[in-house]
Amino acid sequence: MKIALLGKGKTGSKVLLNKTHQVIAFDSKNPPTFEKLETFDAIISFLPGDVFKSYIPLLIETKLPLVTGSTGFEWPANLDQVLKDKKISWMYASNFSMGVAVLKQMLNKLSLAKSMFASHQTSIHEIHHTKKQDAPSGTALSMESWMDEKCTITSERTGDVIGFHELKFDTGSEKITLTHEALDRKLFADGAIWAAEYLLKNKIPGLNNFQEIIERTL
Ligand SMILES: NC(=O)c1ccc[n+]([C@@H]2O[C@H](COP(=O)([O-])OP(=O)(O)OC[C@H]3O[C@@H](n4cnc5c(N)ncnc54)[C@H](OP(=O)(O)O)[C@@H]3O)[C@@H](O)[C@H]2O)c1
Repeated sequence: MKIALLGKGKTGSKVLLNKTHQVIAFDSKNPPTFEKLETFDAIISFLPGDVFKSYIPLLIETKLPLVTGSTGFEWPANLDQVLKDKKISWMYASNFSMGVAVLKQMLNKLSLAKSMFASHQTSIHEIHHTKKQDAPSGTALSMESWMDEKCTITSERTGDVIGFHELKFDTGSEKITLTHEALDRKLFADGAIWAAEYLLKNKIPGLNNFQEIIERTL
C-alpha cells in the first residue's frame, strides 16, 4: 500500500518506521496538494487538529480512504453524510491504542453498572507532554463519553509523557481505578496502519470510529 502521511512530528514519524508499506510524508515545508495525493492508496494524518480541519475539503476531493488521529477540533456536523454520499471511507480515533480500545469495553461495562450504586463520583486525570496543544485530551473526553455521564476531568502537562489516563469511580465506600499508560508512540502508528489496511480491505463509507470497528472484530 502507498500511504501519504500528513505530519511527521512526534507521532507521524513512527508511521515512517513501518517497513510493510511505502510511506511518503508531508509537512509544512512540503504541504499536500490534490496532484501529489492522487497517486496514493490511503492517507494517514497526525497533523495538529486545526491544520487537519483546514485540509478536510482537499482530503474529500481525493476520495481516498483516510485515517486520522488528529485531535482538538470539532468535526463538521454533516461530514459523515457527505462521505457516505461520495462513498468515501474515513476512520478516526482520539487514541489509536489497542489497549484503549479494550479500556472502552471496560468503561462501557462500568457505565452499565452505575445504577447498582446509591451514589458515585467519576473523575479522570490525564497527563501529557508539555507540547500537547489541546486539554483535556481527546482520549479523556472519549472516556467521559464511554461512561455516558459528566466526569470531573483534570489535565497535567509535564516532560515528554506520551499519554497517561486514570479513571476513578468512587462510591464513598469503595473505589475502582483504571489506568492506561502509553509507553511508546509507535503504538499509535501501528493502530493507524491497522486502520488503513482495514479500510482498504473493507469499504465502509462514512466517518467510522476506530474503537467501534475494533469492538466489531473482538
Ligand atoms: N489518535 C492518536 O492515537 C494520537 C496519538 C498521539 C497524538 N495524536 C494527535 O496527533 C496530532 C499530532 O501530534 P504530534 O505530537 O505528532 O504533533 P507534532 O510533533 O507537533 O507534529 C505535527 C506535524 O504536523 C506538521 N504540520 C503542522 N502544520 C502543518 C501544515 N500547515 N501543513 C502540513 N503539515 C503541517 C508538522 O510539520 P512542520 O514541523 O513542518 O510544521 C509536523 O510534522 C495532535 O492532534 C495529537 O493530539 C493522536
